[in-house]
Amino acid sequence: MKIALLPGDGIGPEIVAQAVKVLAALDGLPLELEQAPVGGAAYDASGDPLPAATLALARKADAILFGAVGDWKYDSLPREKRPEQAILGLRRELELFANLRPALLYPELAGASSLRPEVVSGLDILILRELTGDIYFGKPRGVRRLPSGEREGFDTMTYTEGEIRRIAEMGFALARKRGRKLCSVDKANVLETSQFWRDIVIDIGKRFPDVALSHMYVDNAAMQLVRNPKQFDVIVTGNLFGDILSDEASMLTGSIGMLPSASLDAAGKGLYEPIHGSAPDLAGKNAANPLATILSAAMMLRYTFDRTEAAECIERAVRTVLQQGYRTADIQEAGSRQVGTTEMGDAVVAAMRA
Ligand code: IPM
Ligand code: MG
Repeated sequence: MKIALLPGDGIGPEIVAQAVKVLAALDGLPLELEQAPVGGAAYDASGDPLPAATLALARKADAILFGAVGDWKYDSLPREKRPEQAILGLRRELELFANLRPALLYPELAGASSLRPEVVSGLDILILRELTGDIYFGKPRGVRRLPSGEREGFDTMTYTEGEIRRIAEMGFALARKRGRKLCSVDKANVLETSQFWRDIVIDIGKRFPDVALSHMYVDNAAMQLVRNPKQFDVIVTGNLFGDILSDEASMLTGSIGMLPSASLDAAGKGLYEPIHGSAPDLAGKNAANPLATILSAAMMLRYTFDRTEAAECIERAVRTVLQQGYRTADIQEAGSRQVGTTEMGDAVVAAMRA
């Protein structure tokens, strides 16, 4: 199990350290961990947010455990030097096209959701976000001068048929293993790219008659996610819409600090990261919630290494610590035991051993 550790910036190093502690507590796993700088940390060290050595390490690893990148202090750098380019570059270079972002509500956290408990209790949805296409990577892009002399900024939204097919197939396959419902989210009433997306998804759907396929415009989906989120099972959508909807869905579960993610290539190799960012304001304060990263490590065991039992052991332990009342500041409530990042990691390890 060759795992590349890319902790990155802000709270990244602290939360990745907790996930490593949890992995190490699983006896008998042949772990080979190697660490490299990424994002702002790598820029500071070498002038490049994704140095060649870091990319090479990520390529040769079976899986990557990623913390977070970004800090306001890099906002004035040219785009190609900014920390975000590291994660975008890894996704592109490693062809990590399938981004699984589960939004699962732990019953203990129902009170931490911004929605009423009855709206979210039992929530278990999976957002499957396409991750290497769309307006994120489409060309051309830039700022140009129009004949009138006025300047114009532009990006290009594109999806090839192959890109849509492979993510749609993955969506149907995942839905088959869950509630057999797939909702494809697009903006086909306005965008050509979306109409094409919808046509291809319908076509793939013919091969999955046992999965109920529906379609929803993205504005409606954003509304339905807060109106009645339990109507969804698996949502499949493009890169930009998925970016937005997955942040929205995370808040249904109480805290963005709880949600893990997997970004997979066609062979099951994956990059695993919490969906939250680097939170520079919390860095170094032992205040961040490490559970999203710990749960990302569990996803890694499940999806890349096929170690379901080990993954479940971690997930059970997370459940246990929540039941025991341990809370980091983001999920704090009256009467809970407030703990820091390290203590939360320790509590998970203790629950695994119990
Ligand atoms: C995410 C993040 C990234 C994205 C940023 C950091 C480039 O928001 O993983 O959702 O937009 O994909
Ligand atoms: Mg995002």
